[in-house]
Amino acid sequence: MADIIDGRAIARQLDEKTKAEVDALVAAGHPVPGLTVILVGEDPASEVYVRRKIKACEKVGIKSTEHRLAEDTSQEDLLALIDTLNADPEVHGILCQVPLPDHIDTRLVLRSITPEKDVDGFHPVNVGRLSTGTGGIVPCTPLGVMLLLRSVIPDLTGKDVVVIGKSNIVGKPVANLLLDAEATVTVTHIYTHGLPDICRQADVIVAAAGAPELVKGYWVKDDAVIIDVGITRIEGEDGKTKLVGDVAFDECQHAKAITPVPGGVGPMTIACLLANTVQAARALTV
Ligand code: GUN
Repeated sequence: MADIIDGRAIARQLDEKTKAEVDALVAAGHPVPGLTVILVGEDPASEVYVRRKIKACEKVGIKSTEHRLAEDTSQEDLLALIDTLNADPEVHGILCQVPLPDHIDTRLVLRSITPEKDVDGFHPVNVGRLSTGTGGIVPCTPLGVMLLLRSVIPDLTGKDVVVIGKSNIVGKPVANLLLDAEATVTVTHIYTHGLPDICRQADVIVAAAGAPELVKGYWVKDDAVIIDVGITRIEGEDGKTKLVGDVAFDECQHAKAITPVPGGVGPMTIACLLANTVQAARALTV
């Protein structure tokens, strides 16, 4: 049986480290790290995510503030709020929850957050820093993927890694982080020819295509490590809905280790957001 990579446990360990860092900063006379979350409109999924983020801040001692704006908030008003937060010395991290309403230019808004406070790592300056290996804030899910992977393979030098998915939020940044870790990286996607054969060569598969149970057991070589970033709600054979990843989990028990869905990558994302907020606070104040 494959080892299960316990994302909840690894996220808890990261939270403990983050809390210790918050305590040390405050003990040294620095301000309490502060994260501001902006939510425009009432998207139910976004409401859940934002609530989780705020609650997670409390656990580690980060001061969180929330700006809930009406669905019909103008782009101008949102940009003005971000300007104010950019200049606020008590705010070290700014997260504007996406998706934003259609009348708002998401790219413009995400670019208006100062790169030093961009705890999502979405700003082009942070994207550029990541792709050139020159620091900056790393997006939360890719950072979480790397921490999970390193819990099984501390040294990725020369490992053959196949990334499935080319999104700006996961696929591309994960590929850059893996290259920085000296892995040999093949970036693929759902239109890649011969994907099963390519995956079968891999020491590590990072599945981030958003395609439920795309990766079958025969795509996976014995003793490969699988990080499953996908999470989709589907209807099971019993008619009940369930969450599944991009990997057919039950077929992949010959792997060395695999992340479950849920309980794998998901919990790491918020823990990495908290870690990024403390990193931003330190860079802005120490
Ligand atoms: N919506 C869903 N996930 C995220 C995230 O990680 N950051 C932001 N800003 N919005 C999201």
